[in-house]
Amino acid sequence: MTTTSPIGIFDSGVGGTTVWKEISKLLPNEQVIYLADSKNAPYGDKKPEEIVRLSIKNTEFLLKNSCKTIVVACNTATTAAIATLRQKYDIPFIGIEPAIKPAASLTDTNRVGVLATKGTLSSALFHQTANLHAKNIEIMEQRGDGLVELIESGETNSEKTFALLKNYIEPMLEKNIDCLVLGCTHYPYLIPQLKKILPPSVTIIDSGEAVARQTKHVLEKSNLLNTSGTKPINFCYTNYKIHLLQGFINKLELNTWVEFLEF
Ligand code: DGL
Repeated sequence: MTTTSPIGIFDSGVGGTTVWKEISKLLPNEQVIYLADSKNAPYGDKKPEEIVRLSIKNTEFLLKNSCKTIVVACNTATTAAIATLRQKYDIPFIGIEPAIKPAASLTDTNRVGVLATKGTLSSALFHQTANLHAKNIEIMEQRGDGLVELIESGETNSEKTFALLKNYIEPMLEKNIDCLVLGCTHYPYLIPQLKKILPPSVTIIDSGEAVARQTKHVLEKSNLLNTSGTKPINFCYTNYKIHLLQGFINKLELNTWVEFLEF
């Protein structure tokens, strides 16, 4: 492994591209290999053992491709599997968790909404983080059932998605939240719809930027930061519909061609 080895990023599907975008802004010299396990999405309703199995499979592929570090760009896989991955493999792993800490320091109403998958909200890690950083804050948890499936089918803008989101958000607004934490990497694609539902007094917070900063920090600490200055060629694989992932990649201007891969 050298400084010019790629960063591996995986997610249950297209959502991790929102994290990749932040990494590409902060670390433009780094080559990325992105893996979208869309065939198995959503992870959020699966048993933790199954999420661990899928996360190991994704990791093995990225390691075979000489990745120097792996970003688990999925809140659900982080909560269920990152401890196992860190134990099993000898490279640094960077995970993603709902941004409760920044929300807790930003809120004036002391009420924060968290929209995330069933897997994330029911995990021990989520509750540990909430207890640690938001003891005096009331957290309104809301499962985003069905949202990942809609985004995976390209329906970020549809009326169906809007109606579902409204259903999820309105009860939190009634409770007077002033921060909404997006606890799933797919959800930033819903920000345009969310802005139509939320009053301007509610701040939307996601963790993509923080993960990019953490990735840089980890690479620096391990002497693995690419300082070569060459423009990298990225690779992006999906085991489902290429055109869907390609649409999201184009939207974020990640300039990478998506290839189909059976895995
Ligand atoms: N992007 C994943 C996350 O951050 C989605 C999980 C799922 O597939 O349900 O949680």
